[in-house]
Amino acid sequence: MIRPDLDTLPAYVPGVRNARAVKLSSNECAEAPLPSVIDAMQASLAGVNRYPDMGAVELREALARHLGVGAYQVAVGTGSSALCQQLVVATSGPGDEVVFPWRSFEAYPIFAQIAGAAPVAVPLTANHRVDLAAMADAVTERTRMVFVCNPNNPTGTTITNDEFDEFMNRVPEAVLVALDEAYFEYNTASDGPIATEAITRYPNVIGLRTFSKAYGLAGARVGYAFGPRHLIEALNKVAVPFSVSSVAQAGAIASLEAQDELRERVHQTVAQRKRVTDELGIDESQANFIWLPGAAQEVADQLAQGGVLVRVFPEGIRVTVTNEAETDAFLKAYGRA
Ligand SMILES: Cc1ncc(COP(=O)(O)O)c(C=O)c1O
Repeated sequence: MIRPDLDTLPAYVPGVRNARAVKLSSNECAEAPLPSVIDAMQASLAGVNRYPDMGAVELREALARHLGVGAYQVAVGTGSSALCQQLVVATSGPGDEVVFPWRSFEAYPIFAQIAGAAPVAVPLTANHRVDLAAMADAVTERTRMVFVCNPNNPTGTTITNDEFDEFMNRVPEAVLVALDEAYFEYNTASDGPIATEAITRYPNVIGLRTFSKAYGLAGARVGYAFGPRHLIEALNKVAVPFSVSSVAQAGAIASLEAQDELRERVHQTVAQRKRVTDELGIDESQANFIWLPGAAQEVADQLAQGGVLVRVFPEGIRVTVTNEAETDAFLKAYGRA
C-alpha cells in the first residue's frame, strides 16, 4: 500500500543525543528560553483545550512589524522545515525538479522526493560555498523551485550580493527561489543578500527564518516565511490546519518582545565562534556552528569520548557553537585546551 518510490527516500538523521554529553550536533541554543518566554508559554497552557488561532494573527502581525512587511506577507509553520516542505508541495510534483546546493540542509532532497519531484543537488565550490553559477546552470524548464541556503548548513559560508543578483537575473520568474535564512541572526558578513530586501526586488523570492536557532525555541517548532501574497497564500493552502500550537505561538510572540536579551546570546555565540575558528585556524563561519572539512568519524569518536557530540557528514564534521562553557568542553575534547 506504500508508494514504492518512498523506498529510496533517505531518512532524516537527527543529531545524536546523550543526556550526559554536551550536545553540539543539532545547532541548538544551549540556554533555556528566557523567563518571560517560559511565562508566556506556561500561561498559554491554560487554554490548550481550545484549538490555536489558525491564522496565527497576533504572531504574524508581530513578525510583520519585526520584518517591516504586511501581515498578509507572512506565514508561520511548525519550524521552517515544514515551510520548506510546503513550498515544495505547493510548487512541485512528479516530473518537476527542485534544485538545491549540496552539501546543505539535508531535508531539501527528502522534501523533493516526498512530493514526487526530482531532487537536483548542485555541489558546493571547492571552498565549501554555495555555487550559484552552477545552480543557475542546473535550472531547466522542469525546475519549479530552488533553495538557496544562506549561511549554508553545514559549511557556514555565505553568498555575495553580486552572486545572488547574477543568479536571480538568470533564473526565470516562474521559478520560486527560497532564501533559507535559518541562521540569519548569526550572520555578520558585510556583503550578501537579505531576504527582507530581496523580496522587494524579486517577485519570485520568499524568505525563510526560524525561532529554533537564535531564539532558542527548537522544541516548540515554529518558523516563518515572508514574501509576496500569492506565495504566502499557496503556502497556507498546503499547510496542515492548526499546525502551530498555541504554546508555540505564545513563545514566539514573547521572544520577539525580548530581542535585546536574545541578541546578547547571539553575540556570545558569535564571539565563541571567532574563538574556535582562530584557535583551530579554520575558515570563518557565519552561523552557530563551525565546519571541519574532511574530518571523519574518528574525530567524532574522540570528541564523544571527551563527552562532546557533533554531527558527522561524509564531507566533514559540523560542530555547533553556543556559549563559553560548551566551547571550553569542545576545545578540551579536541585536544586544544
Ligand atoms: C538551513 C536550515 N533550514 C531550515 C532548518 C529548519 O529548522 P526548523 O524546522 O527547526 O525551523 C534548519 C534546521 O536545522 C536548517 O539548518
